Amino acid sequence: MCGIVGYIGRQKAAPLILEGLKRLEYRGYDSAGVAVLENGRFSVAKRIGRVANLEKDGATQRLAGTAGMGHTRWATHGGVTDANAHPHLSSDGTIALIHNGVIENYAQIKAFLIDKGYTFKSETDTEVLCNLIAYHHAKEPAGHNGDSRFVESVRKTLRHAEGTYGIVVMALDAPGELVTARKGSPLIIGLGDGESLVASDVAAIVSRTQNVVYLKDGEIAHLTAKNLAITTLGAGAVEPVIDKVTWSIADAELGTFSHFMEKEIFEQPAALENAMRGRFSEDGSTANFGGLNITAGEFRGIERFMFCACGTALHAAMVTEHMIERFARMPVECDYASEFRYRNSPLFRNTLFFVMSQSGETIDTLAALREAKRKGYKVLAVNNVVGSTIAREADGGIYQHVGPEVGVASTKAFTSQLLIGAMLALYIGRMRDLSFGEGVRFVEALKSAPGLARIALEQAAHIREIAKRFAHYTDMLFLGRLSLFPIALEGALKLKEISYIHAEGYPAAEMKHGPIALISEKCPSVFLVPSGEMLNKIISSMQEIKARKGPIIAIVTASVELPAGLADETIVVPEAHEAVLPIIMSIPVQLLSYYIAVERGCDVDKPRNLAKSVTVE
Ligand code: F6R
Repeated sequence: MCGIVGYIGRQKAAPLILEGLKRLEYRGYDSAGVAVLENGRFSVAKRIGRVANLEKDGATQRLAGTAGMGHTRWATHGGVTDANAHPHLSSDGTIALIHNGVIENYAQIKAFLIDKGYTFKSETDTEVLCNLIAYHHAKEPAGHNGDSRFVESVRKTLRHAEGTYGIVVMALDAPGELVTARKGSPLIIGLGDGESLVASDVAAIVSRTQNVVYLKDGEIAHLTAKNLAITTLGAGAVEPVIDKVTWSIADAELGTFSHFMEKEIFEQPAALENAMRGRFSEDGSTANFGGLNITAGEFRGIERFMFCACGTALHAAMVTEHMIERFARMPVECDYASEFRYRNSPLFRNTLFFVMSQSGETIDTLAALREAKRKGYKVLAVNNVVGSTIAREADGGIYQHVGPEVGVASTKAFTSQLLIGAMLALYIGRMRDLSFGEGVRFVEALKSAPGLARIALEQAAHIREIAKRFAHYTDMLFLGRLSLFPIALEGALKLKEISYIHAEGYPAAEMKHGPIALISEKCPSVFLVPSGEMLNKIISSMQEIKARKGPIIAIVTASVELPAGLADETIVVPEAHEAVLPIIMSIPVQLLSYYIAVERGCDVDKPRNLAKSVTVE
């Protein structure tokens, strides 16, 4: 959630750190700070608000040191104040620290440190960790295992720390060194030309290097400008594995778009192409996935599927449930990861688990994965961020391959999850009752998705005009049926998270069992209206709304003809195969939310109280 950047090399650290922090602002952004080590002291600048506030501040301009670190904060312990912003210094001034995560036993540690004479300026658990490192550092004799005294003091501290952390530490008496460690919060080390970096997200370092090492839970890395040594909490040595990042800095820049959300909505045709590239069989009748790590034989022995995810990813899982049940005729269950992890529900034998997560770092989804594994189940992951914790801990999985998603509101990651869900349904269906011919038609339909998405995007200008007329409402309903019910949920989620309009998603027919009480001229409904067998039923639901003076926006497929005057606004998308329809219907829903939020002057890419990946419970 919070963003972390550390740098050690030949350049002035502060401008590079600020640039990295700006790329991480989407992770959390109620305050920001930088510390560099120069002339034998730590210079620290921190401010509530955006990184831009901090950058304007003369204090950061004057920072000249070539080793430093910075942080964007999303508050957990302690309010949003300058004092609570990171970096924190130990009260004896010897240690500086930035931290992402939550230290659960901070109160006991604090009491211990107060007793030892340490003092505190903030309400944070981070300052407690910082002082504990200073305490061990002051007492520490030369380290063992070839480690420096500095690493050893961090190790001792972390052995006492309960909770989650991704930290970067600097010590006054170790000016050419950074120590970084993680448990539950992602950290990536960048190995550049005569410089080393560390960050919570590749986006912050990809402009300097594409050679990265993904730090694992329980590892401590000791960085100098030219060296990296990794050890474990138990002091065992670890051989670093260097990976190459496949995307470039242009992927994480706005280009000609006003917001990342807008850019990512319009990137969807290309994202869909990337998500399916190379994943169809030679005979064109089924899907292939390289990394499932489960044989076709094992797959045939599976009797049911369980999907766990959060937020938008859960909506994608719900559509996948529909697809697998419809095309593979196999039972599927979906659950909120945050509920599953505590629910202790009875599970069937021969169940295959899937988790879906764009970031691969969502703590609830990770906990659900661990819980399923603990119970002896195989867990596969659908995930976008390569090398993420979920990707590493899963037994196998499918990468989404849609490049970095920066906008907090998930768009291209969502539709690529829908596509992968449909491909899974095809893959499983072809092992069962789906014929060769049906498989070929399914594959052709999936291949048409990028083109159809492009046509749906042509409605953008029309949707923008509709958004102008609907931006003033305070409540809205989204209604759809079958595989489009989760798209209604997703439409409501998108609208509320970026425009702060209260919105709810419902199965269209369920509306009359309660939500219809909300309907008046002040509460519009967005209906998802495909052609086909449910059309007349949906039209009946629309009539019930109209009879109560509720304004209606209808998103219809091309061949649908609505009774005159039923919809106040109509958005037309192309007809699509059942497996592709949810993808195509998602696009106008995303655009409507986006333009309404813009119309209301909301900060689309950085909605209040939200962060891109939720790594705390
Ligand atoms: C909404 C949104 C969130 C995420 C959720 C799970 O637009 O992005 O609801 O979908 O926090 O995140 P991941 O997919 O990273 O596990």
